[in-house]
Amino acid sequence: MRLAQLQIKNFRNLQDTQLTPVSGVNLILGDNASGKTSLLEAIYYLSHVRSFRTQHISDLILRQSPYLQLVANIETFDNLQIPFGIRRSRNKSEIRVNKQPVKRVSDIAAQFPVLAIHPDSYKLITGSPSQRRQFLDWGVFHVEHGFFQAWQRFKKALMQRNAALKSKQKVDICQLWNKEINNTAHYIDQLREQYFTKLSVYLTLLTNQFFENDIVSIEYRRGWPADKDLGDLLEENIQKERLKGYTYYGPHRAEITIKVNGQSAQTCISRGQQKTLVALMRLSQAMQFTEASNKSCVLLYDDLAAELDSTHRNKILSVLSKMNIQLFLTAIEKHQIDLSSWHNKKVFHVEHGELTELE
Ligand SMILES: Nc1ncnc2c1ncn2[C@@H]1O[C@H](COP(=O)(O)OP(=O)(O)O)[C@@H](O)[C@H]1O
Ligand SMILES: [Mg+2]
Repeated sequence: MRLAQLQIKNFRNLQDTQLTPVSGVNLILGDNASGKTSLLEAIYYLSHVRSFRTQHISDLILRQSPYLQLVANIETFDNLQIPFGIRRSRNKSEIRVNKQPVKRVSDIAAQFPVLAIHPDSYKLITGSPSQRRQFLDWGVFHVEHGFFQAWQRFKKALMQRNAALKSKQKVDICQLWNKEINNTAHYIDQLREQYFTKLSVYLTLLTNQFFENDIVSIEYRRGWPADKDLGDLLEENIQKERLKGYTYYGPHRAEITIKVNGQSAQTCISRGQQKTLVALMRLSQAMQFTEASNKSCVLLYDDLAAELDSTHRNKILSVLSKMNIQLFLTAIEKHQIDLSSWHNKKVFHVEHGELTELE
């Protein structure tokens, strides 16, 4: 998969501009506040129908404009072009794939896998467990078929059980969903575990290269104790759960723990190391995805030069140049990014939201 063409209207300061990227590396240069991050954000939005910077649609729509619009051509690995379109006003959303309206974001995401690394990405380590579950589930969703449906079923049962707990329904009513939760939970856990095992191979290769003097370990926890049966836990804790109003155990409580030299990466490594580690986590996802599916994906790397010192930056660029991905990089100045390892490349310049091709 690759982005073959993108036309952007009223997305942040990108009023009306278009981009015809190459399948290799695309470097976007521009001064501060010219629109570099906004451009990556638009590509990310096309895949996730949400931003990595804000939850509010009104932040994304050009001030004073009624809507934003992204129209793209996505090229599949067998060279088919699929038209994608998103039009969003403050209260209405229209998504089209292949000229047909689609309702579910998952329909668009499945066809256009995009990963991003940006200055706030370190929050994947320091933030809440839900962010790490999202990280894991990006891969499970794209690699393991059947996950999405199982997750939808689980979520529905969990919501109903929690609603029953919260409204202090009788115990036997609250337990009506135990079986559905238990069944879907095991399937979800199995898919997550499988994916995590495969991902770890790539991550270990990378961390050995970048954290030469440290031991980085990353572990998956399924959301209930390893020595306990979830079905039993759902039965045993029902009284306590009725008091609290939510379900204690299950895949909604899964977590990834990351340790460096035995200590939590959340608190014991520098911000710079956290940024490197998150970049490696995303790179390993892209590697695992491309090798497992034999399709390429898109990787957006915002402000690489500002994020990493020159040694790590060049090391990362060297890894990136060997990957089968379509890459978008941003920088303020050209000399900050050495593109000599790439043959297939384009450089763009953005100024006041206007994009031009440099070479
Ligand atoms: N909804 C919006 N409408 C118009 N301009 C916006 C909107 N949101 C952000 N901007 C402006 O867009 C400009 C580009 O921002 P950004 O893409 O973050 O720049 P860069 O990454 O190049 O430093 C900034 O000046 C910002 O204030
Ligand atoms: Mg920026």
